[in-house]
Amino acid sequence: MAQSGDPPALGSPFPELKEERKVVSILCVDLVGFVARSDQADPEDIRTSLRPYYTCVRRELVRWGGTVEKFIGDAVMAAFGAPLAHEDDAERAVRAALRIVQAVQELNAADPGRELALRAAVTTGEAVVARGARTVEGEGIATGDVVSTAARLQAIAPVGSVVVDEATYRTTRHLVDYEALAPVSVKEQVEPIHVWQASAARSRYGADPAEATPSPFIGRTHELALLKALYARAAREGSVQLVTVAGEPGVGKSRLVREFRAFVEWQPELARWRQGRCLPYGEGIAFWALGEIVKSQAGILESDGPHEASNKLAAAIGAIIEDPAERDWLKTRLALLVGASAPGVGSVAERSESFAAWRRFLEAVAADRPLVLVFEDVHWAGAALLEFVEYLVDWATGLPFLVVCTTRPELFERHPGWGGGKRDSTTVSLAPLSREETSRLIAAHLPGAELPGEIQIALLERAGGNPLYAGEFARMLADRGIVERRGQTMQVAAGAEIPIPETVQAVIAARLDTLPAERKALLHDAAVLGTVFWTGALAFMSGLDEQAVEQGLRTVARKELLRPVRNSSVKGEAEYSFRHLLIRDVAYQQIPRAARVRKHQTAAAWIERLAGDRVIDHADILAHHYGQALQLAKAAGLDDDTHELEVRVRRFLIMAGDRALEFDARKAEAFYRQALTLSPPRHPERAGLLGKTAEAALVGGRLSEAQRDFEEAIVEFRAQGESLGAGEAMVRLARTYWFRGETDRKRALLAQAIELLEREPPGRELALAYTHGAADHMVANRSPECAVWSEKALALAQDLGLDAEAIRARQLRGLARCQLSDLVGGLADLREALRLSLDLGLGNETIRSYGNLGDWVWVAEGPARGLDVKRAGIEFGERRGLTLPVMWAKAETLWPLFDLGQWDELLRIAGDLIEWDRRQGGGQVTVVALTYMAYVLVCRGELSQAHGLAEEFLPRAREILDPQVLVPAVAVVSLIEHMRSNQVTTVRLIEEIEEITRATTTARPATSTPCSRAAPC
Ligand SMILES: Nc1ncnc2c1ncn2[C@@H]1O[C@H](COP(=O)(O)OP(=O)(O)OP(=O)(O)O)[C@@H](O)[C@H]1O
Ligand SMILES: [Mg+2]
Repeated sequence: MAQSGDPPALGSPFPELKEERKVVSILCVDLVGFVARSDQADPEDIRTSLRPYYTCVRRELVRWGGTVEKFIGDAVMAAFGAPLAHEDDAERAVRAALRIVQAVQELNAADPGRELALRAAVTTGEAVVARGARTVEGEGIATGDVVSTAARLQAIAPVGSVVVDEATYRTTRHLVDYEALAPVSVKEQVEPIHVWQASAARSRYGADPAEATPSPFIGRTHELALLKALYARAAREGSVQLVTVAGEPGVGKSRLVREFRAFVEWQPELARWRQGRCLPYGEGIAFWALGEIVKSQAGILESDGPHEASNKLAAAIGAIIEDPAERDWLKTRLALLVGASAPGVGSVAERSESFAAWRRFLEAVAADRPLVLVFEDVHWAGAALLEFVEYLVDWATGLPFLVVCTTRPELFERHPGWGGGKRDSTTVSLAPLSREETSRLIAAHLPGAELPGEIQIALLERAGGNPLYAGEFARMLADRGIVERRGQTMQVAAGAEIPIPETVQAVIAARLDTLPAERKALLHDAAVLGTVFWTGALAFMSGLDEQAVEQGLRTVARKELLRPVRNSSVKGEAEYSFRHLLIRDVAYQQIPRAARVRKHQTAAAWIERLAGDRVIDHADILAHHYGQALQLAKAAGLDDDTHELEVRVRRFLIMAGDRALEFDARKAEAFYRQALTLSPPRHPERAGLLGKTAEAALVGGRLSEAQRDFEEAIVEFRAQGESLGAGEAMVRLARTYWFRGETDRKRALLAQAIELLEREPPGRELALAYTHGAADHMVANRSPECAVWSEKALALAQDLGLDAEAIRARQLRGLARCQLSDLVGGLADLREALRLSLDLGLGNETIRSYGNLGDWVWVAEGPARGLDVKRAGIEFGERRGLTLPVMWAKAETLWPLFDLGQWDELLRIAGDLIEWDRRQGGGQVTVVALTYMAYVLVCRGELSQAHGLAEEFLPRAREILDPQVLVPAVAVVSLIEHMRSNQVTTVRLIEEIEEITRATTTARPATSTPCSRAAPC
């Protein structure tokens, strides 16, 4: 990272003392009440007890790039930005202050006799900075109001807190969470000044991995060196690196990453570290890990309401993205990850669009400093998240980006190709520790304790180099009183019998058994909640008060079964996590089955309460808890309890499906299908649910499933007498037929749907049917009918305030008008549709608007102008990751390219399109591309090649039947046959065109020259 500020002038042997004005941040910390207490204490004792404090303060100051200005008694004043300025001095000062406060708490925890408390303040402003000052000799570096204000603010700070002035607050508020305090009066200043209290720097983890009393780190030098080297490479070259740390449970993956984090934190350039964990609840929670990463970047807490979450998200985006339109787009796509909005109704984004938006956001985060993204436990990630990680690594280029995934080996069974074959991908496999290393690890846990020789051997055998086993074993000995602490060392109790459990689970179980019943009960409740949990949740589940819970947890944490999480993600509640997931698993397995039902229910009830209006963000977790409770209740034969549970499980499964639909249609379909199993035929919710399931299947490209479910939905809706629902399902089924190429069937069904819906009061369903009807006439080149239907659709959609529907209708009306020779009116409609879709941020609609407008600008102003408009659409779509419409838009450029004589370009794009389309299974795009290639070949006299292509595309164009595809295809083949002197065939083909176009009326030469109005409706 670039550092500004002049280095001392090297040429001169005596750097002169020079002054300059600079913006600096001043940090002032002071111990509270210490002087008072030290009156009674022996000075030597005071020194001893303060030494760790000073060491810690110095360490943190150095680490964050601060310079100690002076020590006054036990107060410390430090400057950031003097003599050397960093661009993030205020942030460094606040982070240092927060770390010092925390480190002092840790010092206190380690030594219960010591009760240090401190206050800190950070101010930012201009100061006169003396260059070359010798602070050890008492010369100050910085002078100015900013220094004295820091001292004053420190004195009024609440004990154990960090307060900041306005300038510091303004420069760091997107990086640090603050709470405003009442303004304070400061001597010498007339107006009271505004102050804020810093609560946490934004680097919240999924689960903060700091271990309370970290055991020494043993071995793994090569692995750690490899991570460091990759980080250096990412940071130096601005390249994206993917590292997968793989190994058996407990072998030390998370620990290695933690050690690596400590290294990154000590680097001179500030890096961003963002971490998310994949949850072990089966397949449930798609993108949770990524959600955690975004939440931590934006400082969103689980306890924030949707409004607050949404504001924080907007602020986080605003801080890194300039373009307002892009901000809106990112916000919509990111809101879903953090539960800051309900899923959009009716608009299903392509997953590629979400991917593009998420990548854009992360790239912007990495723009000014290296970004380390950690995805913990990706063996639990759904396929979609893995796909996103691979996509991110493939596409994000030129940025200092390191993606670290930890995983157990089963990932490679599910995903044999994971990470493989990528340029910048590395797998670090963690082997078991060697015997010697394991012995050292045990010795570090049991300093001085001499285990009997045969026990030592058996233990090494059993541990098999697994540090988790070794560590838990050592702790078990302490828990059971088999070893006892004597001063700095441990001793094995005489005559003690030392058990050597078979597995690490058995060791953990043995440790849990040493807990008194009420503590164990707490752990059981916690295990139901998951790896991380909160005091309030446990109070709710156990009926104890929060203080009792907190006290219980603290004692269990002392046994190193749990650890406190530094920055709780729930406001006002302490957060804890199991020290290792296996401890959670063992604790969970100990809960009697019957008790699990109730526990899952109460856990869910608490989460529901916490989540409040943001419940959508937790829908899959809630579905999991209620689902578990339901399953267990059924298994236990508690059938009376199940009705209420079923209602909830269904509700949350549907909600989880709605949420997933925006970016993972497969997952959404799976949630809906699960909900369907709870909604038998004739169940009032079944029909609607079938409709959702079918839509998800359609979006996911599973046409036969979609067809089957829509058909059943129609039957269900009819059985309930719900014509509107039935009508809508019919329209959507008609669309499914269209995708399947069954044009006649589609038309018949659409007509039926319209007839049915017109008998009902007009609503959304009818507007949808009208636009589909209009689109159908459009692809069939029946412009007057299209004009009539689009007019009706537009009027109705506007009446009902259906924006997207109205835009679609307006486009169709525009096209119809153009074709009916009203070029002015038509172009006006098309331009307006484009403007509205851009305004509303509707990706698919925008790109389609560009395409349609481009066609008619070509007619009005020539092919070059038309091509420009189309290219603008392609560029827009590519930025947004809208792959499918981009491909269609590219196919549409073939026509103006042909007219412009840019035939080499045409052949290149057609080749790319065909390659892409074939990878998707081959469809209309290939037919269109081959058709235009044939035009070029004919014009270049390469008849036999053109003829070869025709044999492939003509039969397929005839299947597709739509004139926009078929007419140009038949026309070019007639040309080929004509030039090959097959006049009979030529005439037959021309007659075929005449037949296809007989029913159509069009002013545009769409049916006689190469053209494709082929966007899917
Ligand atoms: N090299 C090491 N030196 C000292 N202790 C270690 C080492 N590796 C792991 N440990 C300790 O072993 C325990 C288990 O390690 P860790 O949690 O990293 O396992 P993991 O591989 O992430 O397991 P899981 O797959 O279950 O997530 C932790 O308490 C950790 O501190
Ligand atoms: Mg782990």
